[in-house]
This record gives sequence, C-alpha cells and structure tokens, in this order.
Amino acid sequence: MDAAGFCTVGALRKGLSMSHLFYLSSAARPVLDRALGIYMWDTAGRRFIDGSSGAMVSNIGHSNPAVLAAMRAQMDRATFGYRLHFETEPGEALAARLAGLCPAGLDKVFFVSGGSEAVESALKLARQYAVAVGQASRWKVISRFPSYHGSTLGALSVTGYDPLTDPFRPMMVDMPKIPAPRAWLDGLAMDDPTTGAHYAAMLEAKILAEGPETVLAFIHEPVGGASTGALVPPAGYMQAVREICDRYGILLIHDEVMSGGGRVGAFLGGDLWGVAPDILAISKGFGAGYVPLGAMVARGDIVDAVQAQGGFMHGHTYAGNPLACAAGLAVLDEIARGDLIGNAAQVGAVLKARLAALMQRYGFIGDVRGEGLLLAFELVTDRATRAPLPPDMRAFDDLVERAYAEGLIIYSRRSRGGYAGDHFLVCPPMITTERQVDEIMEKLIRALDGFAAAHAGALA
Ligand SMILES: Cc1ncc(COP(=O)(O)O)c(C=O)c1O
Repeated sequence: MDAAGFCTVGALRKGLSMSHLFYLSSAARPVLDRALGIYMWDTAGRRFIDGSSGAMVSNIGHSNPAVLAAMRAQMDRATFGYRLHFETEPGEALAARLAGLCPAGLDKVFFVSGGSEAVESALKLARQYAVAVGQASRWKVISRFPSYHGSTLGALSVTGYDPLTDPFRPMMVDMPKIPAPRAWLDGLAMDDPTTGAHYAAMLEAKILAEGPETVLAFIHEPVGGASTGALVPPAGYMQAVREICDRYGILLIHDEVMSGGGRVGAFLGGDLWGVAPDILAISKGFGAGYVPLGAMVARGDIVDAVQAQGGFMHGHTYAGNPLACAAGLAVLDEIARGDLIGNAAQVGAVLKARLAALMQRYGFIGDVRGEGLLLAFELVTDRATRAPLPPDMRAFDDLVERAYAEGLIIYSRRSRGGYAGDHFLVCPPMITTERQVDEIMEKLIRALDGFAAAHAGALA
C-alpha cells in the first residue's frame, strides 16, 4: 500500500512507493518492520524516531505491552458484537471512562472508527437536534479557514484547505467560513484579550450575515492540527466564542480529533481554557494507533431530544466493537498509570523551549507554537514581515526528507490554506523523555543545517 492508501499488486516486491496524500514526494519509503516506544525500524534494520507519532496518533508509543495484552485477552473472548445485538463490557466501560474525562454534562458517547466519522456524527447529531426542537431552519455550520475536519464529504464541507476541497466543491454544500485566529501571521499580540475579541467578532459578524436562524453550529479545533500547524487561540478567544454561540442558540462543536486524549497537556484542548463544547469529536490518540477508534461525545439533553423523536439516523458497522473498545480502555489506563498527560505538559515545555531556541540559530524560523506535545514551527523568508518561503522551494517537502534521512520523522504541511507557508509538526509520543528530546533535537539540527546550506542564497 502506498502513502495515499492505494495498493498495487507486487508493489512491495518491486520497491514501488508512490504518492503522498497531500503532495507528491519523490522519496520512496522503506518497509516497516517493527516499532517500540518512540522508535520504528524498517526491514533493513534502520531505526527512526517517530517524531510526529505517525499523524499525531501513536500518543502512548508503539507496542505498549499492557495494551497488547488487553487486546489479546479481548480477542480470546470476542472481537465483534454488533451494537444492535449486544452490549459489551469494554464498550460500556470505555464510554463511562471517556464521559468521566469530559466536561460535566457531556455524558453521551457515540463510538466510531476515526476522526472523519466522529466529525460527521457531530454534524448530523447537531442537525437532528435542531429538527427535534423545532428549529429546522438551522443547517449552516460555520467553520474556520484554514482548518481540517476530515476527508468525507460532510467533514470536508467544513474543512478550510483548498487543495483538499477544490476537486469536490460541486459535490458539497458550501459552508460559511471565518478566518482562523492567526494572530502571529496578522502581527497581533497573542496574550492581549482584544486579539481574541477581534477574531471572535468575526464569528458574530458571520452569524449575523448568514441569518442567526439559519446557523446550526460552529466547529473548530481548540488547538489546531496539521492545517494550521498547532495554532493556539489568542487570549479570550475560546471564552468569547462560547458566549457568542450561546447568545445565538448555536451549538459549539470542538474537533478534538488531534488535540484530544492528552497530547496538549490536558485531556482536551478545551480544558486548557475551561471551555466546554456542546458536542466534541475525538479520535487519533484515543485509539493511539492500536485500533481504529473514535467517538463523538454530546450533551445528554441533545441526545435525549433526538432519541425522543425516533433516534439518531446514523451509524457505522464497526462502531464500538469490543476489540477496539478494550484497546481504547487500555490506552486510557496507560495514560493514567504513567501520568502521560503530565509528561506531555512537562516534556512538551522542554521541547518547545528547545525549538524556540533554534530561532537564534536560523533566521528563517518565524514562529514556534503549540501546547504540550502538539508543537510546530513555521519557516519564513523574513521574520519581521512573516513573508513565506518561495513555494517552488518546497521547503515543507525538503526539510521532512532531510529529517527522514537523519532518522527523524516529522510532519509538514502548507500553513496558509494550502497556498504558501511551510510548517512542521514535532509531536513525539507522550512517553518521550528529556533525553529523547536531545536525540530529536540533534537530528533536527542536522536536517536544518543541511536545509540552510542547500538554500543559503534564499534564506535569512
Ligand atoms: C482535527 C482533525 N479532525 C478530523 C480529522 C480526520 O480524522 P481521520 O483521518 O481519522 O478521519 C483529522 C485528521 O487529521 C484532524 O486532524
């Protein structure tokens, strides 16, 4: 299977590695052999540091023995029981555990098998709720640009990233967008509450322009993921957004697919600001790469209203299967046992400081941002103007390949809606130690030195 998910018969034998999901990479990828902790080995015995936890998924590291044991034990009992035919103990236990980790009132859990499914579920539950409470005129879901909420058509319609959405535009309902709160890019102070108010006012203006009676929900990532490069909201933004949604009777959906599960140094991104949504989507770190797993968690009264009108007209066959739930439960156990959320906060602060210190050495690093171990840095031509590097330099590809050659996996994307800018996510598993931060930094610096030398004429 290539990185875009296509399988070619015989590709493995012929050593063919083809396209990357979001850009064409010239580099072939080796064949994965095994993985342990923060390390991965190919079949030739080469070791890599998983400095991005895959796609910010493998939060507790690879091959955790307790999780594998829990999965084996569940496999010996039952791997699948259809949700209309059976309750399962792991499913009930995981739902209770997850609800206990979410803000008060968010106590209804709907399992899915990934982030896009979690977002689709949130959008559809919101719509059915509006219909159930006599507000069928509400259907528009406002979201931000840039943003990423998933690859299925509903999730894509609220996604703000043109290369991903453009080919499918005629097939989607065009949902209203507001700018993401990119304070650094706009030259505004992150810790000034007027900055948060400035971006939140854009939400209110959009609601008024669309007609409040037509707006169903606002969806955003509390700490941004790959589309923005770990964008952190400026002071006051999260609270102001909550207040605006309440003022107009609009549901607030937090997409915690990447930020949820502890990586940001709290179980949920929203917890960092004490803001609770009405519905949330979680996935990646929740199954932590052991199984495809995700969930939508919603306010009880929202679900009750929908159930009273005949139930939620939505579901996926593999949802809540006992094997996935047993793995998810073991992942949450391991996070608690090792205080991995505390470690993400502590080691994340160390890693962030080390990344920020690189700004002394490389004039082309314009910004370092993020929370916990959801961290990113962005490259620029000129730090003062924040002008991006020339697109034909393909820095987002070049630096990733240089790091890969050093045995360090990092994750990159174009930062400004897919048009320009280059950011790099450095998001190792939550088990990472300070010693391993040293290892990551050594490799990253070698990659950056090579990048600086190769583009010396064009870089600050
Ligand atoms: C914030 C966010 N939402 C949704 C998704 C979609 O998740 P999945 O790829 O599991 O469908 C992603 C994936 O990167 C994400 O980062």
